[in-house]
Amino acid sequence: MAEMREAKVFVTRELPSAALDPLAEVATVRVWPGELPPPPDVLLAEAADADALLTLLTDRIDAAIMAAAPRLRVISNMAVGHDNIDMQEASRRAILVTNTPGILTETTADFAFALLLAAARRVVEADRYTRQGRWQTWGPQILLGQDVHDATLGLVGLGRVGLEVAKRGRGFGMRVLYHDAIRRLKEERRYGLAYVELEQLLAESDFVSLHVPLTAETHHLIGERELSLMKPTAVLINTARGAAVDQRALWRFLKERRIAAAAIDVSEQEPIAPDEPLLALENIIITPHIASASVATRLGMAKMAVDNLLAALRGQVPPHCVNREVVRRWRRALPG
Ligand code: GLV
Repeated sequence: MAEMREAKVFVTRELPSAALDPLAEVATVRVWPGELPPPPDVLLAEAADADALLTLLTDRIDAAIMAAAPRLRVISNMAVGHDNIDMQEASRRAILVTNTPGILTETTADFAFALLLAAARRVVEADRYTRQGRWQTWGPQILLGQDVHDATLGLVGLGRVGLEVAKRGRGFGMRVLYHDAIRRLKEERRYGLAYVELEQLLAESDFVSLHVPLTAETHHLIGERELSLMKPTAVLINTARGAAVDQRALWRFLKERRIAAAAIDVSEQEPIAPDEPLLALENIIITPHIASASVATRLGMAKMAVDNLLAALRGQVPPHCVNREVVRRWRRALPG
């Protein structure tokens, strides 16, 4: 990689040229042209002589791909989450992994709040009702939802996105509870947030919103037991990762109206299967993993992913490296 012009980069989806052009100036860039992710065999073949990969969260970068890619030195993921990459294997091989934090925080929080409002006030269901020609009168009992103002918002995870959702909640006059592995005393004081144990959060919140990365600890963090602690009027919002929720248990609780509603932007299986039972329920909103999908944010993410990659190609530690502990070994392995 010392000879930058010879570096080969595989980009797994077309990105705006404003983001990719700087990369094309210093490396041989191959871009997968499909709208769907490259199939595993293509990914494997392309990775085989790549120095760098620019990936999306839909690309599973596992040990087999890394084993087939002897020159691979950096994987730049255009997402803040990096659970699509076998991090242990990347670190073992001294491959740097980078992500795109910060840039998508507010956009994602806006969307989480959009889901919260939409589920509370049954916006999507009401739209369906209108289009189906069911609007026959103004009815005192028709499509009644939950108030958001003055309600209690419970945030599971108070990282960047969680904090922004907390601020939005406070702006709506909500009481905001949070649970996290780390207490954030300064933010508690500044924004008037209350730290509670998960059980209390689930029992007291009218809206529970998830903001945790997907790890072994957060897999099915919300399952049967947790859902059973929630109020029958409560709404669950998930813009984090699908597998943070046990989807089968969620289906049961929604179907039996043991919680009122859910709004999820992520699913255990993505894309969601057409026969997924959740799709048959009225009291859930399901969007196709678009929380960060604003024009400005997606361009910003693409540029950030390219900047991370460019830094690594120059032999510099990328600004958003998630496995910094391997930097020393990574430097030693650089050619030249
Ligand atoms: C989106 O889910 C991301 O991790 O950026």
